[in-house]
Amino acid sequence: MKYLTPGPVHLPEAVIQATARQPHFHRTEEFKKVLRDVVDKLSKVAYGTPIIAPGTGTFAVDMMVYNYVNPNENVVVPVYGEFGERLAESIESRGANVYKIRWSIGDVPPPDEVEDLCRKIRNVKAIAVVHNETSTGVTNRYIEKMQSIADSVGAVLLIDSVSALPAEPIRSKVDVIATASQKAFLAIPGAAILFISREPRSNYPIPPSMNLHKYLKMLPRSETPYTPPVNVIYGLSASLDHILSIGVERYHEMHRERAEILYRDIKLEPVPKKHYIRSYTVTAFHTDKSKEIISELRRYGYVIAGGMGEIRDRSIRIGVMGDITADDLNKVVEVVNRVVDR
Ligand SMILES: Cc1ncc(COP(=O)(O)O)c(C=O)c1O
Repeated sequence: MKYLTPGPVHLPEAVIQATARQPHFHRTEEFKKVLRDVVDKLSKVAYGTPIIAPGTGTFAVDMMVYNYVNPNENVVVPVYGEFGERLAESIESRGANVYKIRWSIGDVPPPDEVEDLCRKIRNVKAIAVVHNETSTGVTNRYIEKMQSIADSVGAVLLIDSVSALPAEPIRSKVDVIATASQKAFLAIPGAAILFISREPRSNYPIPPSMNLHKYLKMLPRSETPYTPPVNVIYGLSASLDHILSIGVERYHEMHRERAEILYRDIKLEPVPKKHYIRSYTVTAFHTDKSKEIISELRRYGYVIAGGMGEIRDRSIRIGVMGDITADDLNKVVEVVNRVVDR
């Protein structure tokens, strides 16, 4: 089976080989060297200090929220799909006051809307944004603009880039990014990754497993406070070598080209309403035949995903991350169109 999914994605063989080994004891010099090397490589794909913790994307998002948001603070969250709802849920669980800007499925609110709400509410301490809304295949390409809005209202910017980085880069410094190993980073699930460009600001208690101060204290020694996801880190080392050998810009272009094949050739309406916000990591299309398409593709050896949230049974999602080829994409197009034409 080949996985054209929103993640975990189809891994390069070298990553699987690197992962499948006896783990080091994490306090040894051998492992510290591996961790140092992976942190150095992560520094080449995004701005900020990289932090690796055991967990998936949800943990990375919670860790970001708990370290940067205090109970009772005002937080603005644009919501345009399931992962925006989950981001808001995480912030609510911290006891903060969440102000959602709900936007229609397949679109993102223009930055002006976010700025207006921040000015109306006043005393906004954080703006939290999903970079790539995996449930609808929509990318928010206003991240840099969001940072200037956050700066102008004195808020911290929190980005969930779980299904975007490093295939969809963030080209300038943003306060905090949360992501994970199993999507465009091309490794197995298990590493929650943060890129931080701003000191953690929460002054309320934080569970030790997600307390960034503990991680930052150990980082200069290339250690983590608790056992890190050792084998995921071996895989990440190999996948980052692969990504860096391609180059971050080319890696982005490569995903754009892959996604364009699907947007151009599949005879279904993309969920994103505008070209500018079409995701280059996870494509999404409206269809009433999602079940038939998914099972027909399985017969040809391809796994794709159904819809989520409001359009759960009325859409499909096809990921273009991972070790896939143009031939795979063309085959997927052919099979999807055959079911559509039936
Ligand atoms: C945008 C986004 N945020 C958060 C998550 C949650 O990540 P995980 O399922 O790895 O916990 C996902 C997972 O698909 C995601 O796509």
